[in-house]
Amino acid sequence: MSKGSVDRDYWSAVADEWIAWARLPDHDAFWSYRSALSGFIGKGNGAALDVGCGEGRVSRELKTLGYHVTACDAVDAMVAAAAAAESADDYAVADAAALPLDSDRFDLVVAYNMLMDVENVPAVLREIRRVLRPGGRLVLSLVHPFRNRGRFVNTAPDAPFVLDGTYYGRERFEGEEKLDGVRVRFTGWWSQPLETYVDALAGAGLAITALREPLPEQRDGRNALQQWMRVPLFLWVEARPLAW
Ligand SMILES: C[S@@+](CC[C@H](N)C(=O)[O-])C[C@H]1O[C@@H](n2cnc3c(N)ncnc32)[C@H](O)[C@@H]1O
Repeated sequence: MSKGSVDRDYWSAVADEWIAWARLPDHDAFWSYRSALSGFIGKGNGAALDVGCGEGRVSRELKTLGYHVTACDAVDAMVAAAAAAESADDYAVADAAALPLDSDRFDLVVAYNMLMDVENVPAVLREIRRVLRPGGRLVLSLVHPFRNRGRFVNTAPDAPFVLDGTYYGRERFEGEEKLDGVRVRFTGWWSQPLETYVDALAGAGLAITALREPLPEQRDGRNALQQWMRVPLFLWVEARPLAW
C-alpha cells in the first residue's frame, strides 16, 4: 500500500477486468447517470483534473464538456488505457494523496467513485484542495453511504430495502458484479457515514456548495435500475475552497 491511501496491488490485479467492464457502452449504472453528471458538472473551458480516472470515461465526458483534462490514477494500466482511448490532454500515474502537480492549478477536480477505495480520505482531500485554484471546485461522487449498508430483499421494483447491522462506523466491503456475462471484482472498499466525508471536506478547507442524490435515467427499455428510483445509489457533492 502506498502512502497509506491506495491498494495499488489490488487495483493493478483487477485493472483488466475494470477496463473491460467500464469501457462497454451502456453497460453498468454509470451510463444511466451520465447526462445528469454532465449537467451537474456543466460546460467549461478551464483546467480539470480527473483523479482516480480508471480507463478514462469521466475524463472523456470532461473533454466533451470543453475542459482541458489531466487524467490521473495510481495504477499504470488504468492510465495507459485512458491514454490509448485519448481520454484526456495530459496524464499522470500518481497516488491522489501525493499528486505531482502544481498548487492552485485546476479550476475543477473530479473524484468519481474513487474515494471509497482510499485509506486516508482526509489526506486525499487536502491534496485536492492544494491543486485547486481559489475559485475552483471539486465534484465528488460516492456510492451512497446508505446503499453500502442496506440491500433490497429481492429484484422487484418495490422490494423492501433493509438495513442489516448498522449505518454507523467504518466498514470494509467486498463483492463482485456480473452483468451480461462480464464480471468485475471489488475486493475491498470502505463504507463510512456521510458525516465522515463532510468532516474530511471541512478539515481540508472545502465547503459544500451543492449536493445531489441523482436519479437514474430509464433507458432503452431497461428497468434494471428501477429500485434506485426509490433509494439513492450515488451521492454527488460540489465543494469549493474556503477563503481562510
Ligand atoms: C471504481 S474505479 C473508478 C474509475 C473511474 N473514476 C470511473 O468512474 O470509471 C476507482 C479508481 O480509483 C483508482 N484509485 C483508487 N485509489 C486511488 C488513489 N489513492 N489515488 C489514485 N487513484 C486511485 C483506482 O486505481 C481505480 O482506477
